[in-house]
Amino acid sequence: MSRLIFLGVPGAGKGTQAALLAESQGIPHISTGDILRAAVKNQTPLGVQAKGFMDAGNLVPDSLVIDLIRERLQEPDALKGWILDGFPRNVPQAGFLEQLLQEINQSCDRTVNLDVADEVVVKRLVERGLASGRSDDTEDTIRHRLQVYREQTEPLIAFYRDRGALVTVNGDQPMDAVTTALKAAIAV
Ligand code: AP5
Repeated sequence: MSRLIFLGVPGAGKGTQAALLAESQGIPHISTGDILRAAVKNQTPLGVQAKGFMDAGNLVPDSLVIDLIRERLQEPDALKGWILDGFPRNVPQAGFLEQLLQEINQSCDRTVNLDVADEVVVKRLVERGLASGRSDDTEDTIRHRLQVYREQTEPLIAFYRDRGALVTVNGDQPMDAVTTALKAAIAV
């Protein structure tokens, strides 16, 4: 059983690796980005509120994602483990998660930081944007997402390092090499 948090710049490969690992471990991959994109697509009240923030490459307000995570982590399939991808995204969200896990008698086993240089992820995401039309995968918005990451999300590396749970994996390798390195890092 694993309870893992994935950190890393936009495009580091969090979603790709989290999906593979979750499938191999039979636990849910919980991506706040995927949940929000589905809400935008279905024009739910959550999606309507989130769309403008996402298109601009900004974080959506904490209140929108906190309730969603509180409910999702208490669904039956998440009792045996989970991988969080894209949450927490700032120090207040990490504080909320710590408190929630205490309340529901769970703890996070590891926080994985997927390390990839900015110029590598800009190239990956521009290519994805051209292929998929994802609205925040344009070069200006990608660079803004990187700036938001530096200001709001990167402090979580120190937050989780202080708690002794951080492992860093080189995400700038072929996908299967990243998967192998990741599995080795979380087995320690
Ligand atoms: P979110 O969906 O979390 O996006 P992100 O972190 O900005 O970036 P990605 O998910 O696109 O990157 P990834 O690291 O998962 O990489 P991936 O595997 O996809 O968030 C989107 C928006 O939602 C935010 O901007 C915000 O508005 C909102 N949001 C979400 N969570 C929130 C929260 N908690 N609080 C507030 N707002 C929130 O891979 C990227 C590309 O690279 C793919 O094309 C993939 O095929 C390719 N790739 C992956 N690995 C490799 C490799 N090893 N080599 C070559 N290519 C690779």
